[in-house]
Formats: sequence, C-alpha cells, structure tokens
Amino acid sequence: MAGNPQQDGVRHDLVVIGAGPGGYVAAIRAAQLGGRETSVAIVEKESELGGTCLRVGCIPSKALLDSSERFAHARRGLGEHGIRVGRVELDLAAMLRRKDQVVKGLTSGVDALMKKHKITRYRGHGRLDGADERGIKVVVASETPVELHANHVLLATGSKVARIQGLELDLDRVATSTEALSWPEVPDRLIVIGAGAIGLEMGSVWARLGSQVLVLELLDRVLPGMDAQVAAEAKKLLERQGLQFRLGVKVKRAARGAKFPYEAVVEVEGGDSLAADRVLVAIGRVPNTEGLGLESVGIQLDERGRIPVDERFKTSAPDVYAIGDVIRGPMLAHKAEEEGIACVESIATGHGHVNYDAIPSIVYTSPEVAGVGKTEEELAQAGVPVRRGVFHFRNNGRARAAGEIDGFVKVLAHAETDRVLGVHAIGAHASELIAEAAAAITFHASAEDLARTCHAHPTLAEALKEAALAVDRRSIHA
Ligand code: NAI
Repeated sequence: MAGNPQQDGVRHDLVVIGAGPGGYVAAIRAAQLGGRETSVAIVEKESELGGTCLRVGCIPSKALLDSSERFAHARRGLGEHGIRVGRVELDLAAMLRRKDQVVKGLTSGVDALMKKHKITRYRGHGRLDGADERGIKVVVASETPVELHANHVLLATGSKVARIQGLELDLDRVATSTEALSWPEVPDRLIVIGAGAIGLEMGSVWARLGSQVLVLELLDRVLPGMDAQVAAEAKKLLERQGLQFRLGVKVKRAARGAKFPYEAVVEVEGGDSLAADRVLVAIGRVPNTEGLGLESVGIQLDERGRIPVDERFKTSAPDVYAIGDVIRGPMLAHKAEEEGIACVESIATGHGHVNYDAIPSIVYTSPEVAGVGKTEEELAQAGVPVRRGVFHFRNNGRARAAGEIDGFVKVLAHAETDRVLGVHAIGAHASELIAEAAAAITFHASAEDLARTCHAHPTLAEALKEAALAVDRRSIHA
C-alpha cells in the first residue's frame, strides 16, 4: 500500500464493496489466500458490518423468532409437559433490546475478524469510477472522500426491498421487514403482503406476540420456490396457529390510513378494501446497484436488474467481479458466502466452484421448513424419473418425546440410479436436519447411502434415514 490518498489514491490488491455475508467472507478468504503481502480492503456505507443479514435480516429476525417462540410456548405449550406457569407477560421492549444486543455482538464480531485478517475498512458509499493503468478506481464517498485503486474489485452490494407502484411505503404503518423488526407495540391487526420467507417469518413473530395476522398472496400457494407439498403443510400448520391467508389476491394499493381507528388500508384487485394497524410489505427484493458507477466500466444490467457474471463471477468489465444478491440465483446469505469464497479462490488459484444443487433453503417458522436440491415439481417438469420416500415426525421417538410431532421429511431419489436429488422437510429443527441432506447431495449419495448411515437414537435426524428407507418401501417405523 502506498501513496497519498488525496492525490494518488490508495492501492489495494482487492477492494470488496459491501460488507454483508458475501463480501466480508470473501475478504477474509482473500486475506487467507494472499498472506501478508496482499492488501485487501472492504468498503461499507453503514457503520456496522455484516450487511442486511446481520443488521436487519436473518439475525435479528431469528432473535425475535426465538424469543416469540418461547413466549408462545410459555403461554400455551408447557401444560402438556406438566408445567404450570402463572401469568405470562410480554416485555416487548426487553425482547427488542435483546435482539439489538445479539446484532451488536455479531456485527462487532465481524469488525474484529476484519482487524484479525488485516483487512482495511473504508466507511462510505463505494462507487466504481473507471479504470486506468493504476487499476480500477473506486471512490468512497464520505466526509473525506477516498480514492482507491484496485487490481480486482468484488461487488457484493446485496439487495433492497422491491417497491411497486401503489404500495406507499411510509416505513411506519406501511413498512418493510426492517421496521417490522422494531415495532414498539404489538399491532392488533397486521396485514402481511406476500407469503414468502419474510412474510411468514415476520407474520409468525407478531402472531405469536398477539397480532391478528392476515397474509395476502398473489399466487395460489405460499412459499413459492419451495416444494409444494411442504409449503401446503406449512400453510395448514400456520393456520392452526391463527395466521389467516388469502391466496390468489393481488394487492393494488396499500397506504397509511387517513381516519381513526385504522392506521392503514389495503386495497386488493376486485375492489375489497381492508383495514389494519400495520402493513408489512414482503413482496421480494431487488439487486442493489444504484450509484455503483457500473456504467464507468461498461457493465450493463440484465432484464431483472442483476449484474451478469460468468461461472467465475467475472462481469463484462476486466477484473470486476460480482456475487450474492446482485447476481442471478436465490437471495440467500449462505449462497453469497459460497460465491464469495469461490470467486476469490478463482482469482488467486484459477479454481473456485459453487454447487448450486446443494444450497439449502430454510424458512424459520414453527415448525421450520427446509429444502435442498430439486423440488418434486422441478423434477416432474424436467421429466426425471423419481422415487420418493416420506416419513412423518409423529412416528419418530424423539419428536414424540419433545411433543413436536408435526411435519415430515421427504427424500426424492432418481428412480434408476437412486441418487438423492432433493430433500424437503417441515418439522422441528428441520433447519439443522437439512445440513445432512446437503452433504448427501454434495457427495452424490444415493438414498441407500442415507438409509445405511447409522443415525443416533433417539434423534429427529432418524426421520431422514427413515424417509430414505421409504424410497425403497422399507421404512421401519411407518
Ligand atoms: P419472496 O420473493 O420470497 O416472496 C414474495 C411473495 O410476495 C411471493 O410469494 C409473491 O408471489 C408475493 N407477491 C408479490 N407481489 C404481490 C402483490 N402485489 N400482492 C400480493 N402478493 C404479492 O420475497 P420475500 O419474502 O420478501 O423475501 C425476499 C428475499 O429474501 C427472498 O429472496 C428470500 O429468499 C430472502 N429471505 C430468505 C429468508 C430465509 O432464508 N429464511 C428469510 C427472509 C428473506
């Protein structure tokens, strides 16, 4: 590193723009690969590192999901275990404070990791500004703007909430998931627009805390993209918890209400007008490319606003790479991490690979919904001959002991080769169980391999083994 920032700019081997799970993980891996001589920098506009996932996404939502689940359990779930409790009260402020502390601990952990790996951090909005003999220019806009020159730039700027005409987000009564993580009181009536992961997770949090929740969904099913059988079961179980659904409904307008007593109104196509205290808009996210200076290096977005990349995450501009939510594929933190690692490994060694068939997808409702590999619908559409094995948690000893008998595991295997092509589950701790399925798909395991793997008894994971046995119609406990 050399030079005067004001005149010549600072040189780095790699500048990562965006310190979410994709960007910061890539920076750490690049520092590991390059050793002491390599200078890696990360540019982030927020004061805290960790991106949407850590600050206002995966982590705070899981903190609230875990807390609200305990509250719901204390109110309704302990009697069957022979535990009598007195009046259970909600201290929402304390619950929100705990969530903030969890986030603070983890974001400062990322800060410590940057220091440990000697990664230079720049605070401010990073923007590409062409390239010359000194490398690619990145301008960090802040009170004292900094000019960086990089041999390689990695764009990892993530995504932001999709905005559509008619949905008047005032970020209070008509809000995004960010605000829904910090509402100071439990809304009596909550309307959630969109039955994707965000809608069902945040809808669950507030339903458990006492809201009457109505979910409006455009499609005729919940959780698009997940296995349909699992998604249908999720809807049924969430309805049992009090969530209401209206499917096949297009929301035309949502806005802050003008009149007492209702604070927000939602109009759906066909004329219905609904009132609520708060509205959560969860209709998807779009890549974050605004003000990134892509035009200065000749990068053009695709039809969905994403940055086109090849299999090594190279953009059309030399030495500029992109990963995570700004490129194609599912908008998931762990997908971005894998891409970040593969990208910098490819830059450093010429090799780097992501197995897109083995990226798990999880929705942290109660029970959890998890899947990896192809869904039954995708396999049917591709004309792949499949054998399926299903095992219900009600036949699993550990599930019965825990009183968590809802849901099932489904293994989809190729009808001729027996290779595991997809595993889909709904049930307690399905998020943990799916890791084994991801490993099985990564190692090209057959259903027979899974079925012959000794699983400790009594565990919920035995349901996966039994579902694998069920592929060959030889499940033991069903
Ligand atoms: P999503 O794309 O998963 O779901 C949005 C839903 O809104 C869809 O079902 C869509 O049909 C519906 N919709 C769209 N326009 C509508 C309208 N006008 N009226 C009614 N319904 C409408 O998006 P979501 O839930 O906002 O999540 C955004 C991203 O974040 C996704 O890529 C998701 O995978 C990711 N995410 C992942 C989580 C996880 O892995 N647990 C948790 C939260 C988010």
